[in-house]
Amino acid sequence: MKKSLERQWWKEGIVYQIYPRSFQDTTGDGVGDIRGIIQRLDYIKNLGVDIIWLNPIYKSPNDDNGYDISDYQNIMEEFGTMEDFDLMLSEMKKLGLRMVMDLVVNHCSDEHQWFVESKKSRENPYRDYFHWWPAENGTPPERWSFFDVASNAWKYEKETDAYYLHYFSQKQPDLKWENPKVRQEIYDMMTFWFDKGIDGFRMDVIPFISKDISFPELPKEYNGEFIPYYANGPKLHEYLREMNQKVLSKYDIMTVGEAIGVSVDRALDFVDDDRKELNMFFHFDLLALDREEGETFKMRSDQWKLTEFKEIHSKWDAVFAEKGWGSMFLNNHDFPRSVSRWGNDSTAHWYNSATMLHTFLLSMKGTPYFYYGEEIGMTNVRFNNIEDYKDINTINRYKSIVDNGGDVKAFIENEKDASRDNARTPMQWSVAANAGFTTGKPWIKVNENYKEGINVDSQISDKSSVLNYFRRMVDVRKQNLVLIYGDYQLLLKDNEEIYAYTRTLDEDRCLVLLSFSTKKISITLDELNFETAKLLISNDEDHAVRVKKDAVFSIKPYQAMIYKLS
Ligand code: NOJ
Repeated sequence: MKKSLERQWWKEGIVYQIYPRSFQDTTGDGVGDIRGIIQRLDYIKNLGVDIIWLNPIYKSPNDDNGYDISDYQNIMEEFGTMEDFDLMLSEMKKLGLRMVMDLVVNHCSDEHQWFVESKKSRENPYRDYFHWWPAENGTPPERWSFFDVASNAWKYEKETDAYYLHYFSQKQPDLKWENPKVRQEIYDMMTFWFDKGIDGFRMDVIPFISKDISFPELPKEYNGEFIPYYANGPKLHEYLREMNQKVLSKYDIMTVGEAIGVSVDRALDFVDDDRKELNMFFHFDLLALDREEGETFKMRSDQWKLTEFKEIHSKWDAVFAEKGWGSMFLNNHDFPRSVSRWGNDSTAHWYNSATMLHTFLLSMKGTPYFYYGEEIGMTNVRFNNIEDYKDINTINRYKSIVDNGGDVKAFIENEKDASRDNARTPMQWSVAANAGFTTGKPWIKVNENYKEGINVDSQISDKSSVLNYFRRMVDVRKQNLVLIYGDYQLLLKDNEEIYAYTRTLDEDRCLVLLSFSTKKISITLDELNFETAKLLISNDEDHAVRVKKDAVFSIKPYQAMIYKLS
């Protein structure tokens, strides 16, 4: 049997990602909290999903909204207490929901005790927990940093006359994995959470953990590209295997790496079962599709093409056809909202495109990950003013543009499509003030379109809502193992409007038809046998006449259909 067909709960489960800061506030301080999540567990269970991934909830000064951790074994005060956490976990278990936490161990916070000690003196026992470059060795070789106004990953510290490394903000010093003590601390911390009963980790920028600690000038082959260089550390797989052997292998859990900088040719090094490293990862090819070449945050000037979108997904499907396992996602806390980005959030096309994208994610091979609010078709907020943005990424890039006399207006236009804050606005629960997220002042503005039907309350009672389509489609996936394990085959490869593919498992075969067009499109599929075809789902009422004898389909704008062929 193909390795990729071996049944596992984390292959069959559907993941629901929660950004706790924006999900549900119960204290009125404008920030979501753990009690808020507990309050909404029944809602989540009723969606039909199985696994909840929580963005970081650990103690943190919030320079990067929790991705800067000052205590890995404590809870962020704004979110609640460890008692709240324990209650949340046990309530989830009662409902049969699993919990995956975020593991952020490439870096911690500069307020973590380890770093506070480390910077005290060169002799401090924690000195070697971080990467320090003594100033007497001259200026350190260039390293690029996300979130740094000057894009410089080295920060000078006067007290010890040395620079420390921070691939992210100055408040996120990189941990030195080359030090076995650091690794053991991390493994102990992971064990602490597993022993509490969590079901897995999503691993933040995991390919960055191993570094060439001689810090050479960037080798020529990388041609100025830091991300692939950062993701290719010499001991990366040694560390992952060690982590697996010392911790992961002892539990029935799942792991998903954030595989920034990892291309198809290296994919199986991480997730081939036989290597005993990770279960799956998120690749970054889709993120790059609507961005300028080599630019993470700059929108591409021309429109992305459906053929490119198909190529990315087909290429990644092929990698895991025999071994390993993939993950499917269209947005998360770092990406703009999927319906605004890959669909069309205009009034005319919002419903069909949101539900078409649900159909897509839930009919591809690979574990599907949904991001809170995606189930109701939440859209990009498109803030006009820099004051409305809360993300360090936008704020510091803005500062850098101001410092360099750049085009601030063009930058804001770009952020309306690209910013991470598009995906971080509060969950839209109802038409109550602040969409029912908080009774106080939300930490980030709510998207006003909660008043126009994009909220849970309005959709839950409406049979033909995006939310109820989502639930139906979840059901379709669960009833049809072929949609989980079946082989994927692309049809109409060069068509720029319709994404069509089959999924086949033994005798079972499904056809998925997805329109990415604002026009009505006709296609012919004569290579398939429609004699016994049965429609499993469609997001458009008027579908009965779709299959004709000659298999000519007339597909409405953003329509999605799945047929069971045999
Ligand atoms: C990736 C996370 O998803 C992102 O939100 C964070 O800013 C960086 N890693 C740094 O931890």
